[in-house]
Amino acid sequence: MKKLFFFFISLVSIYANAQTETKITISNASDQVISKHIYGHFSEHLGRCIYDGFWVDENSTIPNKGRIRLDVVEALKKIKVPNLRWPGGCFADEYHWRDGIGPRNLRPKMVNTNWGGVTEDNSFGTHEFLELCQMLQCEPYIAGNVGSGTVEEMAKWVEYLNFDGASPMTKIRKENGMEKPWKVSFWGVGNESWGCGGNMTAAYYSDLYRRYATYARDYPGAPLKRIASGANSDDYNWTETCMKNIGAGRMWGLTLHYYTIPTGKWNAKGSATKFDEQQYFSTMQNCLRMEELVTKHSAIMDKYDPKKKVALIVDEWGIWTDVEPGTNPGFLYQQNSLRDALIAGTTLNIFNNHSDRVKMANLAQTINVLQSLILTEKNKMILTPTYHIFDLYKVHQDAKYLPIKFVSPDYAMGDKKIPALNVSASQDATGAIHISLVNLDPNRKISLSTELAGIDWKTVTGEILTSTKLTDINTFADPNKIHNVKFAGAKKSGNLLKLDVPAQSVVVLELK
Ligand code: AHR
Repeated sequence: MKKLFFFFISLVSIYANAQTETKITISNASDQVISKHIYGHFSEHLGRCIYDGFWVDENSTIPNKGRIRLDVVEALKKIKVPNLRWPGGCFADEYHWRDGIGPRNLRPKMVNTNWGGVTEDNSFGTHEFLELCQMLQCEPYIAGNVGSGTVEEMAKWVEYLNFDGASPMTKIRKENGMEKPWKVSFWGVGNESWGCGGNMTAAYYSDLYRRYATYARDYPGAPLKRIASGANSDDYNWTETCMKNIGAGRMWGLTLHYYTIPTGKWNAKGSATKFDEQQYFSTMQNCLRMEELVTKHSAIMDKYDPKKKVALIVDEWGIWTDVEPGTNPGFLYQQNSLRDALIAGTTLNIFNNHSDRVKMANLAQTINVLQSLILTEKNKMILTPTYHIFDLYKVHQDAKYLPIKFVSPDYAMGDKKIPALNVSASQDATGAIHISLVNLDPNRKISLSTELAGIDWKTVTGEILTSTKLTDINTFADPNKIHNVKFAGAKKSGNLLKLDVPAQSVVVLELK
């Protein structure tokens, strides 16, 4: 009987160890760089992103410079936004850039048919966007109009932006107050051309791409990085056709759009703030699909471009829920909870770990739209849990990617399971190592024992983002409920790094 008891006890402890102690190996056997452009953002003329987000009324008392809000600029500078995509989205393929230049009182108005049917006054146009990028110290990423614009219109926009000599377009630019060209580099040739950007077939779009891209010229000192409008989610045929028909030499990048829908149903996506563990689980299952999508699209690209010259650019990603009750359904305004932070941390880990092919990504969208970094209400501004993840992860920008090996414990729900843990690591120019760890399991901590092969280090410090409930949010009444705090739970034990990653948390460690 006693023997049986001890046998039972040792079985229990083996099981407990298997559950709690996960071994990770991190090595420095790579010279791959995690492009800072993976940490890019997106600002469309949609709902309250530009108007009421970045851009204030003429007589606003909110501190601003040339109508651009200074509090949001300061917050975004802190997280080192590397690039900003504009003017859309679906809006890009209805946008006629010449309506957005010159004296504002003379600019024609238009209907924003995609987003709530509101009147767009074109007060925020090319000059204003590029002024914003200058203030943010980030690179502009402009999406040109293929769906309803002409080749000539796109060609002239590039001439207006990038040519330094005498020409019809540079004459107008100078009259509008800009002597020197901006030299924009990231150039999108259409957006979602399979959908709101013209409902095209992949074969038709790839022909059009070749034509538009030809006349979007490289001017002296201003070569374009041309970006083709890529696949929706798992439309592998789109990627295959573009790679085959356009060819690696004619594009710098090919895009992928994928949104995490909590329920997986576009007509009832689920609430941003009211969800149970079951729905949290299905949301994270959908979020983790990014790993499969990036892997499969990359494999197709590898066939046509084994040297990985063409970047896979995930220029729309994030969680898309039902809008906040009582808000305009066309404005896509949603709150942002701890769940959003776990999605951001997980997705950025996926991108870091695929940085051989993923060279750029843009979260949708910066302010007041979908998975925002910032929410505004008149003169107030709050930073969302997602913002704090970008603050934690900025250490990976342009750092050397470090390969990682481990088997994650499972997070199970009924008969379904997902990996509870995801991780990425990098080494910056000073030699400091950064490891970002996400524990998706809301019920159990994960004990880690990490070997850093061939890496010398002496000290470890860290920060953590977590909260009591997955549904916790920052509000205008309680703006700092969720924020990063110091994490002192990691220790050096011999050559091993040991720590417990708390349930439902994101931890970023710095080893020196
Ligand atoms: O980000 C919102 C919209 O989602 C974009 O305008 C469009 O490209 C995508 O369908």
